[in-house]
Amino acid sequence: MQIDQINNLSFWSKLKKPFIGLSPMDGVTDHPYRYIQKKYGQPDVVYTEFATVEGFCRGVTTPLKDFIFDESQRPIIAQIYGRTSQFFRETAIVICQLGFDGVDLNMGCPAKSVANGGSGAALINTPKLAQKIIKATQAGVQDWINGKTVNDCENITSKIAQEVKKRHLKLSQTYQQHRSIPVSVKTRVGFDSKIIEQWLPTLLETNPVAIAIHGRTLRQGYGGKADWETIGKAVEIAKNTSTLIIGNGDIASKTQALEKVAQYGIDGVLIGRASFGNPWVFNDNFSQEKITIQQKAQVALEHAWLHEKTFGKNEKYSFLPMRKHLGWYIRGFDQAKEVRQKLVMTNNSQEVKEILTQYKLL
Ligand SMILES: Cc1cc2nc3c(=O)[nH]c(=O)nc-3n(C[C@H](O)[C@H](O)[C@H](O)COP(=O)(O)O)c2cc1C
Repeated sequence: MQIDQINNLSFWSKLKKPFIGLSPMDGVTDHPYRYIQKKYGQPDVVYTEFATVEGFCRGVTTPLKDFIFDESQRPIIAQIYGRTSQFFRETAIVICQLGFDGVDLNMGCPAKSVANGGSGAALINTPKLAQKIIKATQAGVQDWINGKTVNDCENITSKIAQEVKKRHLKLSQTYQQHRSIPVSVKTRVGFDSKIIEQWLPTLLETNPVAIAIHGRTLRQGYGGKADWETIGKAVEIAKNTSTLIIGNGDIASKTQALEKVAQYGIDGVLIGRASFGNPWVFNDNFSQEKITIQQKAQVALEHAWLHEKTFGKNEKYSFLPMRKHLGWYIRGFDQAKEVRQKLVMTNNSQEVKEILTQYKLL
């Protein structure tokens, strides 16, 4: 199947423009987070946390946790990172078999643990490898369309393969088919300096369905401001291609996202940090003031409960990753600090409920 055909058939071509999605965030956008964001904010598209193909193809099972989702989250994209093209190819087959709607390649992570090994944003400095990785992922999708499965992936352990097959059987008929899914990229405007004029054409040559661009360089990390002028330049560069350009960086509301769309002609926007404790950021009539603290407390409790339900049976289960979310929900009223101090000591949803009840937030 031609890449163009895959892209045209994909959910991206059916999304109403401009679309606003939930940006992938490691340690944040897990299954409970995405579920809550979809339920209360309805972002048009969501991504998983990034998952390592190097680890996955060496038997590390963490990506299986990252890849948990339910039907309410569609369209959902699995994001992966790494530097070994064969691993991308095999992981793409697995992602297809798990029923995802798309696969996204992280070429933007600045973390030393990722970029120092040549993955994430470091790929901006190795454009030939970046292209090889995109093509290998597209080939993995093609393998799936042609009938290959996790059983044909020589680097995937039998333990992982067994779990993939189990999840696959729980999908509806539609998602069990060997259907095509599109490959997209999420990146930054450069490594040390902004080099979108060289970097973007390199990516475009491989025909990804969409490129999400965070308007910072790797060197900037999360400092300074996202440069939307450069994102605007990217729109110009991609003008005569079918690749969608998605802007990202420092967007705090839907209104702001739509302003950027009007100003720079992007097809969509991804919102990351502004969604912390605030799924309503995606809503049409977003107004932080309209959401009462009681509503937020209710959602915080639901989130805590879902965290327990999703991960509670895991061998290395911990409530710790949930605590930061509780702090993000409980803000903006007189006793907020006091309540937060108690919530960050909790170990289960029952304790959360007791504290929220004690402060008459439930
Ligand atoms: C805690 C955290 C984790 C992140 N993890 C990822 C990730 O796994 N994959 C990715 O492509 N970007 C990741 N990012 C970057 C965000 O997706 C986004 O590009 C960035 O935060 C800028 O958008 P924002 O200003 O709307 O937050 C992460 C950002 C944060 C704050």
